[in-house]
Amino acid sequence: MSESHEKLLNQFQSEMESAKTTADVEALRVKYLGKKGEVTELLKGLGKLSIEERKATGAAINQIKTKIQSSIEETMKKLALQELDAKLKAEKPDHSMPGTYPTIGSLHPVTQVANEVINIFQAMGFFLTEGPEIEEEYYNFEALNVPKHHPARDMQDTFYLESDQVLRTQTSPMQVRTMEKIEPPLKMIALGKVYRCDYDITHSPMFHQMEGLVVGENISMSDLKGTLIAFVKEMFGKRAYRFRTSYFPFTEPSAEMDIQCIFCEGKGCKVCKGTGWMEILGCGMVNPKVFEAVKYDTEKYTGFAFGMGIERIAMLRYGINDIRLLFNSDTRFLKQF
Ligand code: DAH
Repeated sequence: MSESHEKLLNQFQSEMESAKTTADVEALRVKYLGKKGEVTELLKGLGKLSIEERKATGAAINQIKTKIQSSIEETMKKLALQELDAKLKAEKPDHSMPGTYPTIGSLHPVTQVANEVINIFQAMGFFLTEGPEIEEEYYNFEALNVPKHHPARDMQDTFYLESDQVLRTQTSPMQVRTMEKIEPPLKMIALGKVYRCDYDITHSPMFHQMEGLVVGENISMSDLKGTLIAFVKEMFGKRAYRFRTSYFPFTEPSAEMDIQCIFCEGKGCKVCKGTGWMEILGCGMVNPKVFEAVKYDTEKYTGFAFGMGIERIAMLRYGINDIRLLFNSDTRFLKQF
């Protein structure tokens, strides 16, 4: 190794000794081994030498290059570790930072309201039943005093299936199915999904209904009113209510129950169409024709029935003005309940 080569190596080594950071080392790599680095320039100069000289000088320069390279690699590793160490020491974890919590699911508002409604009626002695969603036309219509081609069939937009079956449009068929099995006296509720070909801000093609039926001796309209008023008080508190006459083929007389509009407190608004009232359920005294279908003694027994939409109750309970919010699974909405 010539004197000038040795000088270069010494110069590198002393500069390396004062390198304190990985950035310093990187600067040295560029200075000596980069495209225009000192060692690179020396290698470029080899072309000017004779073959003999080139061999010896080339070997010497390569020796310097290898030394510099391994010195840089080694120091780089050492400093990188030190820097990481220092960083870890400086950046203490802040235990007061809020963590990321796993999201916890909750019951859907429709399920919550359904459970509440069930609890209220069970506390009054009603038992809970369930039945098929694919229902025979007989149970969904005929046995409920809605014969084929009767205009009352148009009250509900039915999904008809094959061989006299439908997607049930109401939970009322559960009245018939229960009475076929049980002799009076009875107090039942039935809850489940129902289907209608209808879709807008207050209608969904699938929704939930709860049906109620009471049959016994001397059951009267005042039993109906007492029961449903007790329910409304439990569900909606002190809110005003009223009964209106209505029509259902399976009850006679029939009525609907309203509560004071929760959005305008009865003043009249867009949601209640200016009436100040909102319908919550249909009800009435069981039509003797229905008792005849299940072979109950119409001389001995009377009864009342009622049916309500669970989504509708949920919307009134929580002030939700679009039924579709209940079905599009947006967790920002669902988290509020
Ligand atoms: N099934 C009716 C409907 O879907 C609701 C209903 C009204 C049920 C009166 C009843 C009743 O049991 O007595 O619109």
